Amino acid sequence: MNMPLPPLDLIPHDLVAACDYEARARQHLDDNAWAYLQGGAADELSLRGNGEAFQSISLRPRVLRDLTQGHTRCCLFGQELAHPLLLAPVAYQRLFHPDGELASVLGASVMGAGMLVSTLASTRLEDIASQAGSPLWFQLYWQGGRDASLALVRRAEAAGYQALVLTVDAPLSGIRNREQRAGFALPPKVAAVNLAETPKMPLLTPNDSPVFAGMMALAPTWADIEWLRAQTRLPLLLKGVLHPEDAAQAVSCGVHGLVISNHGGRVLDTTPAPLDLLPEMRARVGASVTLLLDGGIRRGSDVFKALALGADAVLLGRPYVHALAVAGALGVAHLIKLLREELEVCMALSGCATLAEITPDRLWLDGLN
Ligand code: FNR
Ligand code: LAC
Repeated sequence: MNMPLPPLDLIPHDLVAACDYEARARQHLDDNAWAYLQGGAADELSLRGNGEAFQSISLRPRVLRDLTQGHTRCCLFGQELAHPLLLAPVAYQRLFHPDGELASVLGASVMGAGMLVSTLASTRLEDIASQAGSPLWFQLYWQGGRDASLALVRRAEAAGYQALVLTVDAPLSGIRNREQRAGFALPPKVAAVNLAETPKMPLLTPNDSPVFAGMMALAPTWADIEWLRAQTRLPLLLKGVLHPEDAAQAVSCGVHGLVISNHGGRVLDTTPAPLDLLPEMRARVGASVTLLLDGGIRRGSDVFKALALGADAVLLGRPYVHALAVAGALGVAHLIKLLREELEVCMALSGCATLAEITPDRLWLDGLN
């Protein structure tokens, strides 16, 4: 599909980095949407730690190399992408802009960025797919059982989604104190329109734990992963794996890729920053498993650091939603363009012509090298 080039000169001149979009987004969103977007779990230590992990690593550039053939291309599951930036699954995007997911997919398509569409999208997954000009992956939340989950998978396959990403770190949403304090609620016009009904909680007696006998009775287990793997020809990824033993188990179930993620610090507080776990995860799964990372990416140099430590590509979460809130599809396209340019500049100034040349020796890990 040929996308019209966005009139990027319409963007105000002072929006030059992801942090500028974050500051401006506050003026476009009410307290309710802001608490949902920005918040993390409990004391938000993981939320802060995700960013700090990038800041604590320095770059160690090489100079005087011939980089005239340089590029940022990468290949994921047989698909060539112009750069390794994808949009993370983010629920309920009509909370942030009237066009919601349709604006995001347009911005992503213009910039050749893949997009992961949430099970909790506020737009029909088929309508999003009909607007897509770059790869779309479907993020699956387990629907309490196999039949309802498979029904969503079949819809995603029929609509042309090219990979399936099962999020496994949020069988319940965690302790969201910021949302609670703000009294967060979805406005009536925003809903998870792809779900016919939400999974029914089992009937509980007063002695039953709503967590264990309730939510966890609806959660998937490893047996479901093996089953799901056999149901579809799409590549299957698990999102939210942080333990190397789980990574190994996923691989032995035939899973094709992992998203190393703590859900942007939104589910279980005091989990480590995904960046810090990446080298161990890569060492455990080997070179053939696709590893993506998300959480705290705000600069092209952050993308560079993630790739140096073993990621094949990265997902952007809150930053593109800030841009969506400020300027819709145009904002999303501009944000991706900014981060891609920052990555290119970082590669050029570090002496890397290709993503494969971004190796750990280009980082200064506080004397650990
Ligand atoms: C999310 N995330 C998320 N993940 C997922 O698997 N399914 C979902 O529906 C959502 N919804 C969602 C809503 C909002 C408002 C946010 C901010 C995040 C998590 C998301 O995919 C990703 O893991 C993090 O956002 C990455 O961290 P950063 O980039 O926001 O720091
Ligand atoms: C969130 C859920 C929807 O992070 O994944 O809000």
